This record gives sequence, structure tokens and C-alpha cells, in this order.
Amino acid sequence: MSAAVLGLDAEMIEVEADLGGGELGKFTVVGLPDAAISESRERVKSAIKNSDFYFPKLKVTVNLAPADLRKYGPNYDLPIAVSILLITKELQPAGNIQEMMFVGELALSGLLRPITGVLPIAIKAKKENYKFLFVPEANAREAKLVDDLEIIPVKDLKELVSHINGRQKIRPAASRQFEFTNPPFIFDMAHVKGQEHVKRAMEIAAAGAHNILMSGAPGSGKTLIARTLPSILPDLSLEEALEITKIYSVAGKLPASTALVTTRPFRSPHHTASGVALVGGGAWPRPGEISLAHRGVLFLDEFGEFPRPVLENLRQPLEDGVIHVSRAAGNLSFPAKFILVAAMNPCPCGFLGDKERDCSCSAAQIQNYKRCISGPILDRIDMHIEVPRIKFEKLTAESYGEESAEIKKRVEEARAIQRNRLLDWAIIANAEMSSDAVRKFCQVEAGSKNLLRQAVDQLHLSARSYFRVLKLARTIADLAGAEGIKLPHLAEALQYRPKLDY
Ligand SMILES: Nc1ncnc2c1ncn2[C@@H]1O[C@H](COP(=O)(O)OP(=O)(O)OP(=O)(O)O)[C@@H](O)[C@H]1O
Ligand SMILES: [Mg+2]
Repeated sequence: MSAAVLGLDAEMIEVEADLGGGELGKFTVVGLPDAAISESRERVKSAIKNSDFYFPKLKVTVNLAPADLRKYGPNYDLPIAVSILLITKELQPAGNIQEMMFVGELALSGLLRPITGVLPIAIKAKKENYKFLFVPEANAREAKLVDDLEIIPVKDLKELVSHINGRQKIRPAASRQFEFTNPPFIFDMAHVKGQEHVKRAMEIAAAGAHNILMSGAPGSGKTLIARTLPSILPDLSLEEALEITKIYSVAGKLPASTALVTTRPFRSPHHTASGVALVGGGAWPRPGEISLAHRGVLFLDEFGEFPRPVLENLRQPLEDGVIHVSRAAGNLSFPAKFILVAAMNPCPCGFLGDKERDCSCSAAQIQNYKRCISGPILDRIDMHIEVPRIKFEKLTAESYGEESAEIKKRVEEARAIQRNRLLDWAIIANAEMSSDAVRKFCQVEAGSKNLLRQAVDQLHLSARSYFRVLKLARTIADLAGAEGIKLPHLAEALQYRPKLDY
């Protein structure tokens, strides 16, 4: 038995081999294989021979079932080799082969190479009650994230045959404890001079997982501040870490030295990135930047430079926290719950709205610039904040601001309140609340109703913005440790609606 990874989940694949009944020396693989699997024949044949095992002279037919499921990648090298070694009686299992699952790519020498998507495969193996999962040595730590499943790290074919035949056992991978200690961050909030209101906005965004757009003159510190955001985000829970690791495993982006992703992702794709790179897809759908940013931050710097059609792709995932891709391979979905942090200049020269410097752009240029950014995307951004140039006094001030560690404590407290409140809704942050949840948890106190009514009328809030304002107010109240949403909380939330006319 082996498994195929589809999206973020695995499906069982049965690998069968048969001998004879055709042209001598022929070796075929059937069951909708792609090019990499067809090439697998050459790898398997050489690997078996180079490991000093017998490769049959008769025709070999390998079938990958179910046949209607398209299969790709080199994961099946190992199970194919095992099925051939079984029919040639090189393998004479001392245990029950039906309890074992195999995945791995073979080198011509018979050595095993690491593959992608081992974590979902291990999860599937456990779910289907398999006892042993044989994986390439380099993947063992990742597979071992799943408890109650023996992970056998395989170095090469020879070692595997000795193990299964009961001659010399391979030691199963040992489980280990993971610590969620973040490495020291290069960027600390304390290094940012002035811009207190922007730091406050970042704290709120981190506390409730809200989207934020910063707009301001060149060199005012937008990029710098965005990079400090990870330092105030709460530590990952094991559940979140597993979700993220699964995505990175399937995307083939898990660093060799790590089994579990223990820090929140921070992704900052360049504005020349394609739509597929951003949201995922391809002939064999892979997670894109938005899924790689799951439970972390997606930072889109120079927001105005992203082509409009590329940004439009974000509309559905920003709303649902998941992206659905339909390809020949089937309909797949990848989770994509991220904090969108965008930074841009207000106009091409960057000084529109600056108190001291005149903007040198023509009205037409400004019009054009704004047209690039779509209204529906802006509507999905909870917080719009201006980042002005800072004054000389502040820039040269000796004093440091509050350190990230302090801010992070408050963020963690606010998140704990949210987690408890939203436990039954299977969500963890205010930004994820559905309108039902908003109705339940975001009741504004009587005295604030008037302000809300005025705001909806005068700021022309859409229904979406209305709910987003309430969620934001909820986060601000949580940061203040307040039970209900009071007037100042609502007022602050409303203050983050866009002031510029986009
Ligand atoms: N508030 C600040 N405190 C300390 N350093 C700052 C501040 N603002 C800017 N800087 C310094 O200026 C550099 C440029 O800032 P940054 O790249 O963040 O500007 P920006 O707003 O992103 O500009 P642009 O619109 O051109 O992208 C930073 O590397 C940082 O060293
Ligand atoms: Mg910048």
C-alpha cells in the first residue's frame, strides 16, 4: 500500500505487480500515471539491480489502483520496487506486509530520496490503522509528528529488505517534544521611532487577525513596521503548527532541518508575482502564497503596483479563509487564513496629503493610480491607516518605544479571551467571525447605537464593512479587557475606515 496526496489530504493507493504474459524485458506501469511515474520504471529497475537484487527478465506489469485517480510524482518508486521484490521472492516478509505502507523516491543507486507531503500521508496511515509507515530517512521526523504509528526511516533498498525479511531491524523513528520558542526577531517595535498610532493599529491587527493597509510617503517606515508584525503575533498552538506544516509539506517548502513549523509564516511576495503563485494552482495544484501565509502574515508591499487582475484573485479567499482550485486533477481546497498587511504610497510621487510637501502628480496620474486598486479588495481591509513622515525631533530622539515582547503579552491576552469565547464556533480570532457570531458577540451598548447609525449613513458603509467594524470594535474591547463594546471602542474602530477617497 502507498498513498497519494490530493490537496492537503492523502488517498490510499494500492500497488500491484504481475510477472509474465508479454514481451520479454518489458516493464509497464498502468493506472493513470504521469511522466514522473513512467520514468519511475527506469529508477526502480536500476535501483533494484544496483542493490544486488534480481530484476525479472519476464514482462513486469505494475498497476496503481484506483485507476481513475490521477497520480503524479516520484512517491511510488518505493512501493513499486517493494511489489516487484515481492514477486521475485527477494522479499519474504517476516511480518504482515498488509500492515505496512510505503512512500519514497529512489535514486539509481537504491538510496531513498525525500518526498513532499509526508505529513498528510502519515495522518492517513494512522486513520486507516496501518502499523508501519516506511519513509525516506530524511522525512522520518516529519512523519513522526503523528503519534501511535511506527515510522521506519529507510536509507536504501538493501536495508529495507533486511528489515522486512527479519534479518536486521531498522530502528523506528523516536518521537520528540517540540518547543514553541520563537527565535529572536530582527525587527522589534522598539526600533520604530514615532508612528505610535501605526503601532497601535498593528497591535489591534495582531490581536484580532484583522487586515490592514498602510498608506504614506516614501521612507516613512511602512515596510519597517510591517516587518515587525511577526514579533508581536501570539505563539503558535500545536494544532495551528500542524495545519501549517501540512501545507508546507505538500508545497515541498519544509526546510530540511525542521519537522514542524513552529513560527508564524510571514510571506512577502513581490508585486510581479503571478495569480497562480499568489493563490495556488498549476496542473498539479500546489498551495500559493496565501496558503503559505496561513495563520501568519501576507505582506503585500507596494500594493498599488500589483496588477489588478492578480489582486482580484484574493477576493474569495479573503472572505472565506480558504481557496478552492478546480483542475483536471479534481477540486481541491487549501486553507488560507492570513492577516493581510498592505503598504502603498497615496499617489505615484508619494506625497499626496503630506502637510509640508506638495504632491507633484497630475490629477490624471492620481486617478490612474487609484484605479489600480479595486474597491472590493479595499472593502475587505478592516483598517486603513496613514503613515506620515516623522519629524526630526522624533527621529533623533534617544528614547526607545515599547518593546515587542510587552505588546505581544497584551496580544496573547486578547487572543485568549477570543479563543474561549469562540470555542464552540471552531474559530480562534475575531476576524474569522461569521455574521451570526457577530450578532451574538458584538452587541454595542445602548449609548453607542447612535454613533453606529450615523457612521453607516455618513460613511456609506457596506454590509460587509458594517460587520467588519463591529469585529474590529470587539478586538479593541478585548484588548481593553472590556466585556461589552463601549463608545470609545466603536469610535476607534470607525476611525480606521478609509478617509482617502480611493
Ligand atoms: N519610524 C521610523 N523609525 C526608525 N527608522 C525608520 C522609521 N521610518 C523609516 N525608517 C528607516 O528608513 C528606512 C526606510 O523605511 P521603509 O522602507 O520602511 O519606508 P517605506 O515607508 O516602506 O517607504 P516606501 O514607500 O518608499 O516603500 C528603514 O529601513 C528605516 O531604517
Ligand atoms: Mg516600503
